[in-house]
Amino acid sequence: MTAQMTLDYHMPNRARPATLPGDRTGGADVAAMLRVDQAGELGAKAIYRGQMAVLGRQACAPLLAEMEAQEAEHLAAFDKLVVDRRVRPSALSPLWRAAGYALGTVGALVGERTAMATTVAVEEVIEGHYQEQLDRLSEDEAELRATIAEFRDDELKHRDTALQNGAEEAPAYQILSRSVKAGTKLAIWLAQRV
Ligand SMILES: [Fe+2]
Ligand SMILES: [Fe+2]
Repeated sequence: MTAQMTLDYHMPNRARPATLPGDRTGGADVAAMLRVDQAGELGAKAIYRGQMAVLGRQACAPLLAEMEAQEAEHLAAFDKLVVDRRVRPSALSPLWRAAGYALGTVGALVGERTAMATTVAVEEVIEGHYQEQLDRLSEDEAELRATIAEFRDDELKHRDTALQNGAEEAPAYQILSRSVKAGTKLAIWLAQRV
């Protein structure tokens, strides 16, 4: 064996992405996905619960309640997957619940449109996050792919609902949107790891 061959054998091809469509998805990777998804749905449910605590008597309450119920369904599905596949849940679960609730209540206290603007920002990031997972998951994860695709569609509907309810008319919409998106991305990054 020449030195060059030895080198090639040991060096990963850096130009190649970690996974390609059709690759088998490593067990550890799926565990990280389920951990962050469970944490995210925990936070999402808490956001709507926080919004309901403030806006529960307003005209938008049925919409918020419906979205909260869907987040509860998403969370239940990931709770089950985490147990079935023996995934360690995020150690920061209480933080995701508290942060989501705080984001939900504070946004709602500013006003209904700010609550809706928060929803648009969060749901857009989550939608992109689920799409990224769908791009990485292999075909042998057909059931998980179907679940995530269904939830991604729900998140898009939540975003559209919020857009139809004045999100973009919220004061300082662009700044708010950028901040909430950055916070959500940071939470995703953390929940994959901790
Ligand atoms: Fe969700
Ligand atoms: Fe959602």
